[in-house]
Amino acid sequence: MNSARGRLTKDGIRIYAPGDFAGMAEAGRIAATILDDIVPHIFVGQTTTEIDRMITDMVTAHGAKSATIGYKGYKHASCISVNHVVCHGIPGDKKIKDGDILNIDVTVIVDGWFGDTSRMYVAGKLPRKSERLIEVTHEALFKGIGAVKPDNTFGDIGHAIQSFVEGHRMSVVKDFCGHGLGHVFHAPPNVLHYGRAGTGPVLEEGMFFTIEPMVNLGRSETKVLADDWTAVTRDKSLSAQFEHSVGVTATGVEIFTLSPKSLFHPTYE
Ligand code: MF3
Ligand code: CO
Ligand code: CO
Repeated sequence: MNSARGRLTKDGIRIYAPGDFAGMAEAGRIAATILDDIVPHIFVGQTTTEIDRMITDMVTAHGAKSATIGYKGYKHASCISVNHVVCHGIPGDKKIKDGDILNIDVTVIVDGWFGDTSRMYVAGKLPRKSERLIEVTHEALFKGIGAVKPDNTFGDIGHAIQSFVEGHRMSVVKDFCGHGLGHVFHAPPNVLHYGRAGTGPVLEEGMFFTIEPMVNLGRSETKVLADDWTAVTRDKSLSAQFEHSVGVTATGVEIFTLSPKSLFHPTYE
């Protein structure tokens, strides 16, 4: 359905109005603030259930709603993906160990707008190879964001990410992708983190979507565990992910979920 608020492209991608950016920026700011505020609560011996409980309280304290509680039967305010878990890790009672790396992914709804973002964290001392993985993944996200401007294509974003990651002898996950969002959680297009330059839908001012590359130290293949959520690397290699929600502006990109405290990636020191 084509609402008064905007139009759909031939690929089914919604074009939002200039006045819609403020709503996305506020939802994104709250999601990013929660990721900032959880930093001191990540330590050896902490459980991901406890981290999720604190995130649940933070969402409420901001007057926001969790987009993930009740989404396709998911029951938590965050996904917490430890070590070889690629994404959609379910909070649980296992204690995190020294050197564990984890992705925390939070999506909030504020005034009907969705803010979706994730970052990496470390418990204890960050091993050197994990640090490299995290740095490459974070930079890969920004290579993708750097390709966002009107008249570029979604294939340009995927190509920028894939070529950078593979240049560092790491692999990009192909089984999960970013997505359009705005007044809904998941909308067209699928934002692939690999691809060929110049292919795919053309970017237009007013498109809102996530870029959320998952990068593995080993092979790119994943599988989903029997809980139907937890995605892991098939070869048990470490995996990292960062996610931002962005909007295409007349000249480039607005990142809705930048860290207000400039906490970009571990070690946050
Ligand atoms: N936030 C995730 C994303 O980036 C989606 C999580 S859905 C859930 O799209 F149900 F697993 F929480
Ligand atoms: Co997302
Ligand atoms: Co997310």
